[in-house]
Amino acid sequence: MELMTLLLSLSLVVVSLALAIFAFKPRQSDTKNLPPGSMGWPIMGETLEFLFGKPEKFVFDRMNKYSPNIFKTNILGEKTVVICGPEGHKFLFSNEQKLFTAFRPHSTQKLSRSYQATAAPINFIYQLMLMNSFNVKTEQLEVSASKKSGELLDWDDLQKMKYSWNVVYEVMRLTPPLQGTYREALEDFSYAGYTIPKGWKLYWTVSTTNKSPKYFKDPEKFDPSRYEEGTGPAAYVFVPFGGGPRMCPGKEYARLAILTFIHNVVKRFKWEVLLPNEKIIGDMMPTPEKGLPVRLQCH
Ligand code: HEM
Repeated sequence: MELMTLLLSLSLVVVSLALAIFAFKPRQSDTKNLPPGSMGWPIMGETLEFLFGKPEKFVFDRMNKYSPNIFKTNILGEKTVVICGPEGHKFLFSNEQKLFTAFRPHSTQKLSRSYQATAAPINFIYQLMLMNSFNVKTEQLEVSASKKSGELLDWDDLQKMKYSWNVVYEVMRLTPPLQGTYREALEDFSYAGYTIPKGWKLYWTVSTTNKSPKYFKDPEKFDPSRYEEGTGPAAYVFVPFGGGPRMCPGKEYARLAILTFIHNVVKRFKWEVLLPNEKIIGDMMPTPEKGLPVRLQCH
């Protein structure tokens, strides 16, 4: 009996020692020069702030606190680094499948699927709000006047709709249909002097540049002239469709669909937004609260 008690105590000591060694052993990632940042609460990480705050506030707060280039966080249950600014965009769009690969967090897969169906319509909706602009009307009516009766729009006509497309760009800058996407590190690599461990997730978002006064003067002001030839944003600053090999394959289709839609509505209808101050809800998937009622009247 005494031997049994001795053996039991001994095994308890061994197990406790093993647990203590495991608990205090520095994990591999602890020894690496990880980017600055906070992993937030246990399990939850910083998911709530990420999903329910203003996207640009989430990134700007951390860029100011930790580094304008990169910070670490824990969102949607994933150890994540957020790569910021035009240099970050360039790095991400140039190293696809070399250092990282696409990653869609499980919890955002439903979101992504619904995004495919809604990204373009949401832009149409915002576009509708702005189509009353005198310049858009003038441009669209000029294109219309250059066509014979019943003649359909063609590719060259779309190239003439420069101002209208600048309006769409400005809408997308202020209310991006897609904030950003994820990658997963294929191996340990360095960026901006820090190590990103294999398996960690990388997140890029248009929010690190779109509302920054560093890249857009009076960033809250709606000003389509920002995209005029020769004065437009520098490379990698304005990337609503992403870039590199994973750039949105629907970009040209979206442009065609949006501009054709604008053309036909402006040409045929006089219209009025019934709730000009309608609230836009959902920063990740912006939607007018009441469905944007408009009154259309044939010309
Ligand atoms: C205004 C409308 C749209 C915007 C702003 C937009 C934006 C984006 C962005 C930012 C990405 C992520 C790129 C990345 O991961 O780095 C993306 C990916 C994608 N988009 Fe779009 N998109 C739009 C419309 C569309 C449409 C109409 C389609 C389909 C007809 C489409 C199909 C896709 C697909 C399949 C991907 C995934 C590409 C990949 O992972 O390789 N998008 N889009």
